[in-house]
Amino acid sequence: MDMATPPQNDPWSVVNMINQSPPVDCSKPYDTSTLAGKTILITGGASGFGAAFARHWARHGAHIILGDVSDAAGEALIAELRASSQHPGQLLTYQHCDVTSWTDQLALFKTAVSLSPTRALDAVVAGAGIVEKGDPVSPSGGIFDQPHDLDSDTTPPPPPPLKVLAVNLTGVMYTTHLALYFLPLNSNSNSNSNNAPPRDRDRHLLLISSVAGLCPLPGQTEYTASKHAVMGLFRALRGTAWITKGVRVNVLNPYFVATPLMNKPGLALLAGGAKAELEDVVDAGTRLMADEGVRGRALVVGPKMRVVDDDEDGGEGIEIVEGQGRVRAGERRQAVWEVYGHDYERVEVFMWRYLAVLNLMRQVRGGVG
Ligand SMILES: NC(=O)c1ccc[n+]([C@@H]2O[C@H](COP(=O)([O-])OP(=O)(O)OC[C@H]3O[C@@H](n4cnc5c(N)ncnc54)[C@H](O)[C@@H]3O)[C@@H](O)[C@H]2O)c1
Repeated sequence: MDMATPPQNDPWSVVNMINQSPPVDCSKPYDTSTLAGKTILITGGASGFGAAFARHWARHGAHIILGDVSDAAGEALIAELRASSQHPGQLLTYQHCDVTSWTDQLALFKTAVSLSPTRALDAVVAGAGIVEKGDPVSPSGGIFDQPHDLDSDTTPPPPPPLKVLAVNLTGVMYTTHLALYFLPLNSNSNSNSNNAPPRDRDRHLLLISSVAGLCPLPGQTEYTASKHAVMGLFRALRGTAWITKGVRVNVLNPYFVATPLMNKPGLALLAGGAKAELEDVVDAGTRLMADEGVRGRALVVGPKMRVVDDDEDGGEGIEIVEGQGRVRAGERRQAVWEVYGHDYERVEVFMWRYLAVLNLMRQVRGGVG
C-alpha cells in the first residue's frame, strides 16, 4: 500500500467518512494569518510549551487565556504580552486553574467565553503536564520500598499517589470534555476585533502527548501510561469529533525539550545527545493551530535532521543525513514529522458501522437544520 496517501477506494477505509485530512507535509510552508482574532485557551500556559505558544500566537493577534497553578509566572507572562501587544482590543488574561479540579477548569472556560471579544472560543490547548520524581509503579520505587505490614488494619500501606495521571490524564479529559462543549458554541459567523474577513469559525483541540506516548520511557511508567492514554484519546476522538461537533483534534508528540519540566537527572542522561528545540515545538503547534484544513493528525517533534530530497531515480523520498553539521546545497533541516497516520485507513466492521451511523446522524441533523 502507498503509505503516503490514504486509500481512496478501499471500502474498509473510513478516512473520507470521518473527514480526516491527508498527511501533513511538514516541509511545506503554512499561513499564519488565520491566527489573528482567534480566541485560544491554553492550560499549563505559564511555562514551557504553553508560554511559548502564547507569546507566538499573541504576536499574530490571537486572544489568549491562560490557566495554570503557577500564578506568579502566569501573571508575569500576561503583563509581558500586554506590554508588547500590537493589537488594540486584544484579550490577554490569566486565571488560576488546577486542571485536576473540575470546578477550576469550568470556571476558566466560562471566563474565556465571557471575556472573549467574540464571546466564543476557537481553540483549546491541553498543555498542562507534569513528571514526578520517584515512579510509584516502577519496580525500583513506590510503597514497597518501605517495610509495610500488608495485613495490618491500622497502618495499611497507602495507595500510590498517581498525581501524574491526575494532571496528565484526568486533567486532559476534563479539558477535552469542556472543549467539546464550548467550541461548538461558536457560531459560524465571525466578527473579530482585528477586522479579519468573515469566515467560518475554527474549532480546534490541540492535545499534547509526547514521544512517551509512542514508545516507552523506562523508569517513568506513570508518565508513559499518561501519554499513551492521551494518544488513545486522540485516536478515538479524531474519528468522531469532526463528524459530531465540527471540532478538529490534533496532537503533538515532542521529544525531550529543555523546559522546567525536565529535571536535572533527565537532562544529565541526555548530555551529548540531540534534544528537540522549543522553536520546533512552536512551529509544529502553530502549523496545526493555523492550518484549519488539518484534522486528526499527529506530529512528532524531534531533533533537527539534515534532509536530502532523494529523487535521483525518479522516485519520491527523503534521506536523513547523519549529524548536525552545516546544511549543504540540496539539503534542508526538518524537525517535525507526521506520525501515527493510518488508524482509519482499514477498519473492522464495528468501527465502520459505528462511524457510518454517526455520519448518517450528522447528515440527517444537517438536513433537518
Ligand atoms: N519538555 C519536554 O521534554 C516535553 C516533551 C514531550 C511532551 N511534553 C509535554 O508538554 C506539556 C508541557 O510541558 P512543558 O515542557 O512545557 O513543561 P513546563 O513545566 O514548562 O510547563 C507545564 C505547565 O503546566 C503547569 N501545571 C502543572 N500542573 C498543573 C495543574 N495541576 N494545573 C494547571 N497547570 C499545571 C505548570 O505550572 C507549568 O506551567 C506537558 O504535557 C508535557 O508532558 C514535554
